[in-house]
Amino acid sequence: MYSTLERVFGYPQFRPGQEAAVSAVLAGRSVAAIFPTGSGKSLCYQLPALLLPHLTLVVSPLLALMQDQLAFLQRHGIAAASIDSVQSREDASAVMARARSGELKILMISVERLKNERFRNFLQQVQISLLVIDEAHCISEWGHNFRPDYLKLPDYQRQFAIPQALLLTATATPQVIADMQAKFAIAPADVVTTGFYRPNLNLLVEPVSGQDKRRRLVQWMSARAGQASIVYVTLQ
Ligand SMILES: Nc1ncnc2c1ncn2[C@@H]1O[C@H](COP(=O)(O)OP(=O)(O)OP(=O)(O)O)[C@@H](O)[C@H]1O
Ligand SMILES: [Mg+2]
Repeated sequence: MYSTLERVFGYPQFRPGQEAAVSAVLAGRSVAAIFPTGSGKSLCYQLPALLLPHLTLVVSPLLALMQDQLAFLQRHGIAAASIDSVQSREDASAVMARARSGELKILMISVERLKNERFRNFLQQVQISLLVIDEAHCISEWGHNFRPDYLKLPDYQRQFAIPQALLLTATATPQVIADMQAKFAIAPADVVTTGFYRPNLNLLVEPVSGQDKRRRLVQWMSARAGQASIVYVTLQ
């Protein structure tokens, strides 16, 4: 584990939570890793994928996230590929052949791919060591990003006889954690949480009436002219 961290990824040490999550996965258990954004959740599957005997299947909600992670893996010489909607049938077949031959260590897909008959047939023919669910809060009806197709993932895990699951998210309320534990049989000790406190962030709240909102916002931002600002709104 330590030598792979240095040799393949070039990191001298684990970040908080990574060692606990990676060790539990390598011990054969299902795990939830709940670390803040940008703290290194991906390594919790990337490293075990190299040491587990069979394929690691990663379910990711966004094509852009998949492509980022694939570029990273390829830079580090790790055999990884995706099957996605922008690919030709021939390219997808080539990826499946690499998975079947055992050459591929990591395969990334969207959850919708699992509805595809041809893909499900393919999965029946390969041995999978680990199911990874990135942005795992999508499985929870209580979560802010609920994706109904994620509810079928525990069934798929059984159907394809995948012995363990790893759930990764930055945002999980106690209710969402309980949901993930129940659906994927994760022991309480295997929920690895590093805490959310960010000492470099300040939150200020100022209640204003609806009609005053825009005027106050303009004032607020003019007072900080020259500084970067992000305005969040509830409309899409
Ligand atoms: N042990 C480590 N030492 C140094 N850098 C690391 C380590 N582990 C991960 N990183 C780096 O941390 C960065 C963020 O990692 P990653 O993308 O996995 O974050 P994340 O927790 O998945 O964030 P998000 O919630 O945004 O998805 C990456 O550039 C990665 O290379
Ligand atoms: Mg991530």
